Amino acid sequence: MWKPAERIRHTTLIENWPSATEAARSTLFSPFKSGRLELSSRTWIPAMVPWRATPDGEVTSDVVDWYSRFAQAAPGAIVIEATGIRDVPSGPLLRIGHDRYIPGLKRVVEAVREASNGQTRVFIQLIDFLSIRRRPDRQKYFERFLQITDSHRQALQLPDADDAEIRTLLSRMGDEPLKRVLSEREWESLSRGHRERVTDTEIPDIRSLPEVLPGLFRDAAVRAQSAGFDGVELHYAHAYTMASFLSRRNTRSDGYGGRLENRIRLPKEVFSEVRRHVRPEFVVGCRILAEECIEGGSTVEDTEFFSRQLAEAGIDFISLSRGGKFEDAAEPKVGDAIYPYTGQSGYECMPQIISDQKGPFGRNVPATSQIKQHLSDHDLATPVVVAGGMHAFSQAERLLVEGQADLIGFARQALADPDWFSKVRLGRGEKVNLCKYTNYCEGLDQKHKMVTCQLWDRTDLDASDAKRTPDGKRRTTAPQWKNDEII
Ligand SMILES: Cc1cc2nc3c(=O)[nH]c(=O)nc-3n(C[C@H](O)[C@H](O)[C@H](O)COP(=O)(O)O)c2cc1C
Ligand code: SF4
Repeated sequence: MWKPAERIRHTTLIENWPSATEAARSTLFSPFKSGRLELSSRTWIPAMVPWRATPDGEVTSDVVDWYSRFAQAAPGAIVIEATGIRDVPSGPLLRIGHDRYIPGLKRVVEAVREASNGQTRVFIQLIDFLSIRRRPDRQKYFERFLQITDSHRQALQLPDADDAEIRTLLSRMGDEPLKRVLSEREWESLSRGHRERVTDTEIPDIRSLPEVLPGLFRDAAVRAQSAGFDGVELHYAHAYTMASFLSRRNTRSDGYGGRLENRIRLPKEVFSEVRRHVRPEFVVGCRILAEECIEGGSTVEDTEFFSRQLAEAGIDFISLSRGGKFEDAAEPKVGDAIYPYTGQSGYECMPQIISDQKGPFGRNVPATSQIKQHLSDHDLATPVVVAGGMHAFSQAERLLVEGQADLIGFARQALADPDWFSKVRLGRGEKVNLCKYTNYCEGLDQKHKMVTCQLWDRTDLDASDAKRTPDGKRRTTAPQWKNDEII
């Protein structure tokens, strides 16, 4: 895991929480309406994968309980975790790539509506990703995976050697000489696992992404509508396919890479295909990166342009994240897959309590506010969601009052204490369990283990309502908050 050179231990913002009257008068807890997007408050829970689906991507009762628990405190919106738009095996990640997923997803929607008394809007994040392989065992890589070519023979000065001879030689070489014989991609496949890129246009399935993806996103959105969701969030952020089209590193030469206009083309085509096939009131927003935070990656100025284009095309909201890329991720162990939140860009996405001068709270605010200003300068009122280290009422309220963002995303803080929203609304802010920002939850995510929070997963383990993880060691949802104090 990448760590900043400065090791400054920050502290969460300790503050005077608002009284119930002050909360009721606040902007944060006031209703929001802009275009199709109508929320009971300006609080938002961004997508978080909790690894609770079946291996076939189906909703389980754990998935339902998870979202129902968040909905009890009635945040303005919950975005259901990244959900795969293809019907292909992808581990216990939710899927929406076939109509058979609709009944399960309907259960999630109904649970959120019921638990929040209809106060929480529920969106689902739609994701496409390319294939990545686990880091191979060195011996196996040379025996089975590497394709021997004449460039290997040339580099080894053995023009007549057969494949077996070359494989044996390579498998005995040290890293430095190997790097001189293997191509950059071959070295990457050996040291990090093979990873497809949108620029691999020699592969037919990659070349045809611009033809295939609009239909896949459209069908997924139509299914989301059938399941009763209020809308979808197109996942154009982090390490995945659509973000790779937006990236400055996308050099495709087929009109979908290179110049800014070309990089935004597919995201716009996907959006308009979805928009054309869903009902007029159905919300279609997206999540993009304010900054990619990698060498040679897209900048905040690029995102100003993308946001303006998407806003002009009629997108209903833009949720801004940052970083979370494969390019600078740490080398995984043999047998593990690369995880896009282990490098510097990953740190930018989910910053921790030990940080640099900038700290973990509101790291994405300057870029978000610049993008929001850019939209305003072009008379575009498209709502902008900010996320990253949001945990205090005053911090959220200030951003809204100052017009730096329209909606406040609380991811880890909502995980740490799903009752944040009701506690603060009821004037009981002092009861909030503040996130520690040490990323225990992210560690579980990395291992594709059921995500829980260190603040509550061993609390009242024996309580009758405590469902446990398969190993029996952790509870799967936060204990109920017993608001038995005199208000
Ligand atoms: C366990 C976990 C899973 C996440 N899964 C997703 C996801 O599915 N899609 C997404 O866009 N972001 C995902 N994120 C990133 C969060 O939405 C959010 O942007 C990030 O945690 C920073 O916000 P925070 O400081 O409020 O946690 C995840 C974060 C965590 C901790
Ligand atoms: S596990 Fe740690 S970082 Fe994650 S939500 Fe809980 S307190 Fe926050």
